Amino acid sequence: MTALINTKFEASIQQMQQSVTFPSGTVKYLFQSSFEKFLQTCDKQHTVLITNEHIAKLYPRLFKEYKTIVIPPVESSKDVLTVETLAKELLQIEATKKTIIIGIGGGVVTDITGFLGSVYMRGVSFGFVPTTLLGMVDAAIGGKNGVNIGMNKNILGTISQPRFILFDTRFLHTLPDDEWSNGFAEIIKYACIFDADMYAELSRNTISYYKKKDDKALIKLIERCVEWKNKTVLEDEKENGIRKLLNFGHTAAHAIENLYELPHGKAVGIGMVIACMISEKLTGLDKTIAENLKNLLSQYHLPVSFKIDAAKAMQLLRMDKKRIDDSIEYILLERVGKAVVKPLPFDVIENALSQYESDNRTW
Ligand SMILES: NC(=O)c1ccc[n+]([C@@H]2O[C@H](COP(=O)([O-])OP(=O)(O)OC[C@H]3O[C@@H](n4cnc5c(N)ncnc54)[C@H](O)[C@@H]3O)[C@@H](O)[C@H]2O)c1
Repeated sequence: MTALINTKFEASIQQMQQSVTFPSGTVKYLFQSSFEKFLQTCDKQHTVLITNEHIAKLYPRLFKEYKTIVIPPVESSKDVLTVETLAKELLQIEATKKTIIIGIGGGVVTDITGFLGSVYMRGVSFGFVPTTLLGMVDAAIGGKNGVNIGMNKNILGTISQPRFILFDTRFLHTLPDDEWSNGFAEIIKYACIFDADMYAELSRNTISYYKKKDDKALIKLIERCVEWKNKTVLEDEKENGIRKLLNFGHTAAHAIENLYELPHGKAVGIGMVIACMISEKLTGLDKTIAENLKNLLSQYHLPVSFKIDAAKAMQLLRMDKKRIDDSIEYILLERVGKAVVKPLPFDVIENALSQYESDNRTW
């Protein structure tokens, strides 16, 4: 592998302190780092940057000396057509097996960069610089790369780890408020599944607390989420067991976000509420938890009620990747900090969606 990579870059990632070896590759983690400084260690001939129009405009200095491909800043660009366009551009700039592709952006950019990197010339090295909170705590971690087919999320994908993930929290200074909330939806998700202490910490604080200039609390929170995700992926990279828990809130969320073009984090918040409603019936989750979770989501400016069309959502859910015959493996909570996987027949999910629809109907 080393021989294929440009040496300056290789030397620089070798110096990274933290690394985790997954079955599909070793990832180096560069926490609290400057991407600008890191970039200086990458040789211009063999480095290609992929970003989106927002980031390219906000941080022009980063991109002016490197071959850069810019994609539209929307979920719909995470598709096969964009992969083809990017691959053609890579060919045009004569990217070879020696090229390292770096995705700088939110989950859309890192998902598509990872997918492209793992299939271009049967796989080249790639790295991620997540610029959204959601990307830092979730999308860039774990080696899942994918693109959507129409409204079906991440239908084509690979499991292949980036060579490195660099965390430069200064990018978050330009992140819109709404995107902060989206990131917190995933942080709340980790707390619900694994970490009652983190749930309590989040309940005591607000976004402005974590946004403070001295971002120590935020960095700690990001590292804790990365640790939870890594622990899970290390045990089960291919999602045959424990990794499924990370889908808490996501099954309904994927359908809702596609139907209503709702941002991922907001849809996950709604999905977590629906999962709690089902949990009350099937795992005996304390009835106060759903209400408590709603308060926590509101505290982080996430919607807890949303008008949905249950029948349409169910139509999309039927094609969920977690479907087994006429049921879907659903993640439920037993209590805060303890999640379980249960196969749920379609009619149970349909009832819960209808219940949510009628609870949130606006007349
Ligand atoms: N691979 C995984 O394991 C995984 C996990 C979770 C989510 N995802 C995927 O991630 C995607 C969602 O990611 P996301 O929430 O980061 O959305 P995103 O990539 O669409 O980014 C959200 C918005 O924030 C803007 N933005 C990004 N960084 C910014 C910055 N520093 N300053 C100002 N604006 C900035 C973007 O241009 C975009 O408009 C979805 O496609 C989802 O499926 C993947």
